[in-house]
Amino acid sequence: MKHLLQLIFIPLLLGAAAGAGAAGEPIVLNDDCPPGFELTAGHCELRSLYQMYPSLQDAGVGGLKTGLPQWRDGFTPQQTDLGRYLFFDPVLSRDGTVSCATCHAPDKGFSDGLGRSVGINGSVLPRSAPTLWNVAFLNSFFWDGRATSLEGQMLGPLFDKHEMGSDPQLLLETLNGLPAYRQLFAQAYPEDFVAADAQIRLDQVYAAIAAFQVTLISLNSRYDQYAHGYADALTEPEIEGLNIFRSFVARCAECHTPPLFTNQQIAVLGTPEPVGMPFDPGAEVPLNEPTQRGGFKVPTLRNIELTAPYMHSGRFATLREAVAFYTGGRGHAVPEGEELKIHWHIWEPNLTDEELDRLVDFLKTLTDESFKPEPPRQLPSGLGLVHFEVADAGDINNGEEDHE
Ligand code: HEC
Ligand code: HEC
Repeated sequence: MKHLLQLIFIPLLLGAAAGAGAAGEPIVLNDDCPPGFELTAGHCELRSLYQMYPSLQDAGVGGLKTGLPQWRDGFTPQQTDLGRYLFFDPVLSRDGTVSCATCHAPDKGFSDGLGRSVGINGSVLPRSAPTLWNVAFLNSFFWDGRATSLEGQMLGPLFDKHEMGSDPQLLLETLNGLPAYRQLFAQAYPEDFVAADAQIRLDQVYAAIAAFQVTLISLNSRYDQYAHGYADALTEPEIEGLNIFRSFVARCAECHTPPLFTNQQIAVLGTPEPVGMPFDPGAEVPLNEPTQRGGFKVPTLRNIELTAPYMHSGRFATLREAVAFYTGGRGHAVPEGEELKIHWHIWEPNLTDEELDRLVDFLKTLTDESFKPEPPRQLPSGLGLVHFEVADAGDINNGEEDHE
């Protein structure tokens, strides 16, 4: 299969003093917290109406006024802003062509619009890029849940030869070789940069990128206004969709539990792979547990409208197709010869076309990008932001509409 995706790398020449501002000014890190966070004793703390509500245990599944699970916050404004530069900077990759934002682009719901992501040298990855919205609340990462922290997760993309292709030594040499980065790390970690010859450390790199990621909060959608008590925030058809979503028949909320729209568990659904792709064993591998074969982490449905195509494999091009999967019958897409232990909430709800339409109407009320961060205007490395184009968006689903 020929992939028509092209990476176009545009180096921006900023003159001899790489990393200095366009006018030669050094970059000064932001000393304000991002929106949704309050500066408290020098650290940014999350503020959300959901913090007023009882926990899931007390409120019960499917309740609208349900509190948030544990979250990460408490980084300084400077660490968060440094993380933003690192997140967008392709200098972190072996050949300077791939940044985190290549596959987690703010304008694509922090995903990439592809069924399967594309890394360094055009390598096509086995799975699709999940959104990064609300990762602050997650306790496991990757589709198969194999990482347990943001810091542990990012070792994957940074050092995988198909993603960014770097290695710890190269990454440190690169960053320490750039005076602009040494200067920024000194702003973000002043206590570590007292000595004139202090060097950037890996744990600082990971912490800063994590600090940036935890600021990607999306909890101000029209659905949220409704949940907080503004009855007019949703239309009649959308409320109908919400009620189907929470119903005992559709059971969506059992796994996609508000307010995050994920219960963070692994579930075996039996979603199909793209035509021609081998079966993905999912969580069976990291858990070493045959009953979890074909199991994937329940993804958030926040900003789901923005992150087509859907599922771990990007198998479904539209939200309507993804939702219709659930009414196709238990195990209907499991390949011959696979015996999967499909989750007991996956049954045959026999939803009508209208009900599927209402579910889609409802899912679109979960869109909220009000706290979307700005990409940096210029990068400390002097490289340009990475741009990429999908020449033929139809290619992402491998062109097939097979619902076997
Ligand atoms: C080449 C594309 C690519 C690049 C570059 C990339 N990612 Fe990802 N990212 C993915 C894919 C694909 C997955 C899912 C992989 C899997 O589940 O096996 C993923 C998963 C994640 C997750 C887990 C989200 C969840 O809900 O479980 C986080 C967090 C993440 N990436 C952050 C980053 C950061 C930070 C960087 C830069 C250091 C980065 N990614 C670079 C493609 C990429
Ligand atoms: C048993 C738990 C469970 C139930 C019940 C459930 N889901 Fe899911 N959902 C999942 C898992 C797990 C995935 C990821 C599966 C994969 O990638 O193969 C998923 C994926 C999705 C996706 C695609 C998300 C993405 O980022 O690609 C949508 C949309 C979705 N579900 C909507 C629904 C709707 C609507 C319902 C009710 C009709 C529902 N789900 C019921 C567990 C569940």
